[in-house]
Amino acid sequence: MTYPISRPRRLRKSEALRRLVRETHLQPSNFVYPLFVSEIVDQTTPIASMPGINNFPVKDIAAEADRAFKLGIPAVILFGTPSKKDATGSESLKTDGIIQKTIGEIKAHNPELLVITDVCLCEYTDHGHCGIIKDHDVDNDSTLEILARQAVSHVRAGADIVAPSDMMDGRVGAIRAALDDSGFAETAIMAYSAKYCSAFYGPFRDAVDSAPKFGDRQTYQMDPANAIEALKEIELDIAEGADIVMVKPALSYLDIISAARSEFAAPVAAYNVSGEYSMVKVAAQNNLVDEKRLTLEILTSIKRAGADIIITYHALEAAEWLK
Ligand code: PBG
Repeated sequence: MTYPISRPRRLRKSEALRRLVRETHLQPSNFVYPLFVSEIVDQTTPIASMPGINNFPVKDIAAEADRAFKLGIPAVILFGTPSKKDATGSESLKTDGIIQKTIGEIKAHNPELLVITDVCLCEYTDHGHCGIIKDHDVDNDSTLEILARQAVSHVRAGADIVAPSDMMDGRVGAIRAALDDSGFAETAIMAYSAKYCSAFYGPFRDAVDSAPKFGDRQTYQMDPANAIEALKEIELDIAEGADIVMVKPALSYLDIISAARSEFAAPVAAYNVSGEYSMVKVAAQNNLVDEKRLTLEILTSIKRAGADIIITYHALEAAEWLK
């Protein structure tokens, strides 16, 4: 019998003791703050499905990026809504496209803040899918070519890291080759490696109007029931040149984050997605929970599971609370 020799409560007696033995330390340097920029709005506009999060016109973006930087958050990730959409997402390649202009704006004001770009077609296609449609499905290989051109275009505009989120096979390799050919061998890729086909993306698709107009994303995003397949996806992405791998969403996938952390020698990012964020906000608005405690508990659990990097809409508030 270990009791009463072993009494774990001895180390919980005071805040000083609890701090001394605390295993996980959440810091603003762990966070990436997502920013939505839009050609459709001409002033900062709240996103109804994500309380506290806004769609910004390019002219307002530098100020918001600056708020993140001043709080010690090292990076932002950009999502854009163009004014025109078409079958191949051609707006995403323009040198004066919404993302390209936004990168320039942020870098002009704050060159030290890291700018990560989401590389995908769903925000730019009129059908809302993440690639080119052939025979009623997303065609893998013709999509790769556009993704690679989009990634190069973002890096030319000044992006520090590109993050492909489309889940096509071979996209990390295609993007790596295109970046190297264009003289960007030093630019890192953060791959959305284990991205699940999840209902937790609902509020995001509202925000950027990217819900698929027909069908769903089950032929390219992962089945939530699979864990071994996630390790395979991560392994493939690392072999193709991914520098950082990602698990998305975060909360229902803490087991995947934990496995990724223990199996691979690459930084692991976790995406605390829109549905996870909005559930907290709506619960707090209804006084069902203590918002600050709940948010910090959630973010700590993602880090404890093994995430080195947490992409979260809570970033600004959490950084403020951690001061
Ligand atoms: C696709 C993309 C999505 C998210 C990030 N990149 C949505 C999707 O696959 O439909 C989701 C982010 C979130 O829900 O917060 N470009």
